[in-house]
Amino acid sequence: MRADRKKEHIENFLRTSHMGNTLFDDVYLEHNALPELNIDEIDLSQQFLFKTIGYPVMINAMTGGGEFAEEINGQLAEIAAKYKIPMAVGSQTIAFEKGEPAEKSFRIVRERIQEGVVIGNVGGEVTPEYARRAVEMLQADALQIHLNVAQELVMPEGDRNFKGIVDHLVKIQEAVDVPIIIKEVGYGLSAPVLKKLSALGFRYFDVAGSGGTNFIEIENLRNIDKDFSELYNWGIPTAKAVFDAGKVVKDDATIIASGGIKSSTDIVKSLVLGAKLCGISGEILSYLVHGGQEHAENHLEQLFYKLRAVMLMLGAGNIQDLRNVPFVTTGKLRELTQQ
Ligand SMILES: Cc1cc2nc3c(=O)[nH]c(=O)nc-3n(C[C@H](O)[C@H](O)[C@H](O)COP(=O)(O)O)c2cc1C
Repeated sequence: MRADRKKEHIENFLRTSHMGNTLFDDVYLEHNALPELNIDEIDLSQQFLFKTIGYPVMINAMTGGGEFAEEINGQLAEIAAKYKIPMAVGSQTIAFEKGEPAEKSFRIVRERIQEGVVIGNVGGEVTPEYARRAVEMLQADALQIHLNVAQELVMPEGDRNFKGIVDHLVKIQEAVDVPIIIKEVGYGLSAPVLKKLSALGFRYFDVAGSGGTNFIEIENLRNIDKDFSELYNWGIPTAKAVFDAGKVVKDDATIIASGGIKSSTDIVKSLVLGAKLCGISGEILSYLVHGGQEHAENHLEQLFYKLRAVMLMLGAGNIQDLRNVPFVTTGKLRELTQQ
């Protein structure tokens, strides 16, 4: 059952213990001892999907489909509305299978984020008709299509044949009248994949690299017959994925950095490397589940203060200024990006 699977994903996510590496430690930013800035005037807002958002952060796709999911989505949506940050829902496929009880666990997000950015989510295998319905269900500002090959291959009931996916993505794009965001789920979109998708007209990419939530481990914890732990290090580290995307996608494209984003410096480094904003899933879910909504909000408020502090220490008064901050790559990231 899909609803049970979604619940197990959350439970198993909370049980994961493998420590990934985003390689953000290999991005060096230089301290500025003489910034002519006032922290209260640092502007973190910008335009995204034709609306103003408060911070360069979004709550990324996680759940939907049952009562437990409705409660989590409702709380996440209140957080998103409070800070004017975008929110994506988890895969909506379950709503097409189960109808109303599942649908309302997604619709609650639009009910609680009336003005802000709400993003739908489907897999690359859905029909164009379902993709259209997913947008309608939320009056979504954009639709994420997730590419999750690694997860499917480890999931006992997952897909094994990925032929024809590119044609399918193009058909979905033609059928939907909001921007499509192509996203991974923690293994990264590589430079060649981004080039191919760009050539097909896609303009929004969530690189979702490795180093954060690890679906190979999450699925492995559901799988008692087989052991996939040797693949726990698979994937393109998020810092490399963002660095490559910054080099290969065109100026009219939007890069979202996600996969293991936790700290203010992860966010600032992502923006310096070329991302417009960062997606956070696992980290916010942990705070919410372990400590409740207020705890999650406290965490975000601290994160936003530190974001301003780091920007001030770089001499950047707004998001646009971050684009001109110089950076140096070191260690493994340097090795990987020089080849
Ligand atoms: C419990 C859980 C469920 C998720 N479900 C979905 C999903 O339905 N659709 C999707 O595109 N991504 C899903 N993701 C992946 C996230 O959107 C994100 O790409 C990935 O977790 C990497 O970000 P993180 O390291 O900040 O968690 C899920 C993540 C978690 C933790």
